Amino acid sequence: YFLGIDLGTSAVKCILVDDHGKVKASRSEEYPLLQPHPGWAEQHPEDWWQATSRCIRALLELSGVDGGEVAGVGLSGQMHGSVFLDADRTVVRPALLWCDQRTSRQCEWIERTVGPEKLGELTGNKALTGFTAPKAVWLREEEPENYRRTAHLLLPKDYVRLQLTGAFGMDMADASGTLLLDVAGRRWSREVVEKLGLPMEWLPPLYESNEVAGQLTGEAAARTGLREGTPVVAGGGDQACGAVGVGVVKPGIASVALGTSGVVFVHDETYEPDPERRLHAFCHGVPGKWHRMGVMLAAGGSLQWWKNHFAYEELQLAARDNRDVYEYLTELAAEAPIGSEGLVFLPYLTGERTPHPDPEARGGFIGLNLRHTKAHLTRAVMEGITFGLRDSLELMKESSVEITELRVNGGGARSRFWRQMIADVFGYPVVTVNSTDGPAYGAAVMAASGVLKRDVSELCEEWIQVVDRVEPNPDHQARYEPYYAVYRSLYPILKDSFH
Ligand code: XUL
Repeated sequence: YFLGIDLGTSAVKCILVDDHGKVKASRSEEYPLLQPHPGWAEQHPEDWWQATSRCIRALLELSGVDGGEVAGVGLSGQMHGSVFLDADRTVVRPALLWCDQRTSRQCEWIERTVGPEKLGELTGNKALTGFTAPKAVWLREEEPENYRRTAHLLLPKDYVRLQLTGAFGMDMADASGTLLLDVAGRRWSREVVEKLGLPMEWLPPLYESNEVAGQLTGEAAARTGLREGTPVVAGGGDQACGAVGVGVVKPGIASVALGTSGVVFVHDETYEPDPERRLHAFCHGVPGKWHRMGVMLAAGGSLQWWKNHFAYEELQLAARDNRDVYEYLTELAAEAPIGSEGLVFLPYLTGERTPHPDPEARGGFIGLNLRHTKAHLTRAVMEGITFGLRDSLELMKESSVEITELRVNGGGARSRFWRQMIADVFGYPVVTVNSTDGPAYGAAVMAASGVLKRDVSELCEEWIQVVDRVEPNPDHQARYEPYYAVYRSLYPILKDSFH
């Protein structure tokens, strides 16, 4: 068996996959998200390790699999978070997460200090509030004592790796989101690190995602039930792992991930940064390959907000019938017509990244009238998220990338209604695959690739099959188009009122 671990923002998910790619069992454990100030998001790295070790132990018990039968472990995780450790490997302060928005000033300073052109040339990307380097600069400015104590900088899943193996390491896919990687050269950019005045010694060794980056220690074995010496591959950030997990390992297929964040992702055979750096250009979890992606911060997160505060009846019905509350919400949304009778929702609830890198952006319902009901508002939320994701796809279409199909994953992918909406708004067939465990599955594929010495893409070809396909409906497509145009026009008009 191969163990895939995905360290998410709200929970860790662990799955066991057999050597034919079949999922034997899965389990997850939650941990708290701390929001000490508006716009801040933190977690305790110790919580991650506690939850992960408990989760692995419980998974082995529940599946009846002996730790000795697990041939390899792969790690996936929420990207960009900053784990600061001192020389004794003790956590210095809670980690700042990908969705933390406190570093606008530091981003401006980084762009000024390195120079926008140079930064683009060296890293392929822009300084964005979610990325890791601005968090390190923030620590230096705001908590100098903690900065002085720091001796190591890791990403979230790499902290779990350290606990599992005692070894420091990071894969290139996740490292791409630090803004300290020479993404084209797949190595740390000494030039950027030095220009920012950060210590090179903070950074761990780099690996391709399927390379073995350590072995389980005796202590971690005793705690998790795994066998001492089990190889742990480098793994990847959750977006690269999620893409591998649905087979986005060759050109032509894009993925749309509908989790808390929403991501449109394409595989690139060669390094192809967006000249204007509006899309992220990162190393892929497929060795020697790259990818581009656009990231919406509150995709599923917007619908979750709507559910938490306004779906009182649906929550009650779901509890009564023991069904998923989102099924009731999508049924309600389907009662309203395409375009929600002129109601447009802007999903910028926690600021935005792509295509508007603006931590101050805010959400809104625009165009309300007396005929609108809760069905219209619910549909508008789903349409707004979908329009926002299309913005990323439009940026990709400006380059030469040829897309033939979209593979959706994440919680939102469960809804056929939403899949049809994506097909209609994007104008491409939307497929789902047999592996529904997303990033955890991708991490297991990477583990299998590293241990069995087989290509990541070959394993994906063998293990991942399309199970459902939704074609765009030309009539719907034409009806969505004017509403998408209205959606696109709104951010530039409203931008100044958010600040
Ligand atoms: C990607 C990003 C998010 C997190 C979510 O750049 O910030 O998708 O990885 O876990």
